[in-house]
Amino acid sequence: KEVDWTPEMAEKSGYDHFTIKEIHEGPNAIRETLRELNEVKKVAKKLKNIKRICFVACGTSYHASLVGKYVFEKLLGIPTDVILASEFKYSVKTLDKNTLVIFITQSGETADTISAIRMAKNKSKTLAIVNVVGSTATREAEYVIYTRAGPEIGVAATKTYLTQLTCIYMLAASLSGKDEIIDSLKKIPEIVKNTIKLENKIKKISEKYKDAHDVFFIGRGFSYPTALEGALKLKEISYIHAEGYAAGELKHGPLALIEENVPVVSIAPPGESYDKTLGNIEEVKARGSKVIALGSKNNKDLKEISDEFIPIDPSVDEFLSPLVYIVPLQLFAYYTSVGRGIDPDKPRNLAKSVTVE
Ligand code: G6P
Repeated sequence: KEVDWTPEMAEKSGYDHFTIKEIHEGPNAIRETLRELNEVKKVAKKLKNIKRICFVACGTSYHASLVGKYVFEKLLGIPTDVILASEFKYSVKTLDKNTLVIFITQSGETADTISAIRMAKNKSKTLAIVNVVGSTATREAEYVIYTRAGPEIGVAATKTYLTQLTCIYMLAASLSGKDEIIDSLKKIPEIVKNTIKLENKIKKISEKYKDAHDVFFIGRGFSYPTALEGALKLKEISYIHAEGYAAGELKHGPLALIEENVPVVSIAPPGESYDKTLGNIEEVKARGSKVIALGSKNNKDLKEISDEFIPIDPSVDEFLSPLVYIVPLQLFAYYTSVGRGIDPDKPRNLAKSVTVE
């Protein structure tokens, strides 16, 4: 497939903004990505003797990469690093032929990422996960996997993040031979669709908090990248100062900033990390913060302790939660932006693709 986008795909088709249209396109975008499974398997077959994996990316693609670390280390037990593309040059000396460097880039044109591919290509195996067909990254890397999310016009990445994650899970499932993960992935589009139905509830929550000066996002394990990405979305399109933290790290500094009424968005899916995350929620609650919690629909404890509860239904375990739990946070950022009179599609000072280093 060479050109796979039609002009109609680049219109708002009744939505107020591209950003909200693209959030709604998430479920279908994931379905399209899943159709690449055979291509992913072909690439996986060629990747032999990998002793170390290194993800390299910027922005939202960097957060997808962080999820990649948790997924690869869990399924494959291969040590996995995640490096910002602009910092990659300081690690080039550690590359060798048994290292697989995975570049994630929606546009395939980000200058930092392209220059990192060029630095890595004669030293290690290089694989690019890219949305734009024929972009520079697809020509520079040895192997390419396409996310097939369709065009994304909103500057802040939404649906393409979901498709990058889908590629990561597909690749890890293919490399580890764990086909049951593919079966679980196939259920995700429907779950995301259900989650988008929370739109009105989330809109009301964002109206309540739209004048906040600072918002914290916390999560552990698989939910840590979700916290970072939720915070990035909010700062990009609402201009509110937002920080994502590993929930366990709060006590090592940022807790000093938690006072009366500071909103703390807490990502608490069921799984290994849940109990400790709940403990962290209790800590911030005790200091008077307003907790906006995301968790399984029938989680009574979370509902009770939080000021706002965003129920995820059907329940998704922490392992696949990054694909679902980010969606309410994308909606939260979108409605906060609109509520503050900002154009979410074109945030100030930012560009969809940054072609300077
Ligand atoms: C820019 C965009 C971000 C994006 C980042 C990486 O900063 O504003 O939304 O995440 O570039 O872009 P890429 O195309 O490499 O994924």
